[in-house]
Amino acid sequence: MTDAPLIIAIDGPAAAGKGTLARELADRLDLAFLDTGALYRAVGVLVLDAGQDPADEQAAIKAAETLKSKISPETLKNPALRDHKTGAAASKVAQYDSVRRILRDLQTDFAINPPDGKGGAVLDGRDIGTVICPNAPVKFYVTASIEARADRRFKELQNKGGAATYEAVLEEMRIRDARDSERSVSPLRPADDAYVIDTSDLSADQVLNMALAKIKARTSL
Ligand code: DC
Repeated sequence: MTDAPLIIAIDGPAAAGKGTLARELADRLDLAFLDTGALYRAVGVLVLDAGQDPADEQAAIKAAETLKSKISPETLKNPALRDHKTGAAASKVAQYDSVRRILRDLQTDFAINPPDGKGGAVLDGRDIGTVICPNAPVKFYVTASIEARADRRFKELQNKGGAATYEAVLEEMRIRDARDSERSVSPLRPADDAYVIDTSDLSADQVLNMALAKIKARTSL
């Protein structure tokens, strides 16, 4: 009998550092990695490309079904997923239970049957520890002050040559936080058994080391 896959669930608000942590953990522990935000972003891009409104539930459902029928590792590497406007579109399509249900088994299948013969998977998102993988043995909730997160996002955008001001980024982040946390289905919140890491004043290495110590304490790794 083979061991059950090791699942590490990471949730948190935008730009808190959960993606960086998830990627590094997957790398260090030789686990598969799924950025579940990219699925919602891909749905957002399909809706925007069709000239439709991401807040239109029927348009979002159609896009989610299209994504599900054609998804490949390449789909999730599309640079348009990282566009500034895509984050807001993703947050809008993600409000609908209908859309979330379509994307749910893609995520659970990945966790239960990690690709490439990996012994487990790291998934990051908003509802991994609460809804997608509630039995994950290790859960992290990665957060940071809204100012620290806006500052990181602002610098990222500046590096890409974007013209947004810090104030505009902060305001958009407030709106996205509110939408992700206050929606009625699968809102962003820490699972009861999640280990909370506030990254406001920590380097990526410090966050990684804290997480590795916790994983060691909770598993046989
Ligand atoms: O992690 P991200 O910023 O790429 O996510 C984009 C949006 O997708 C986020 O604002 C809310 C939504 N999302 C979600 O509702 N559930 C997830 N598991 C992941 C992302």
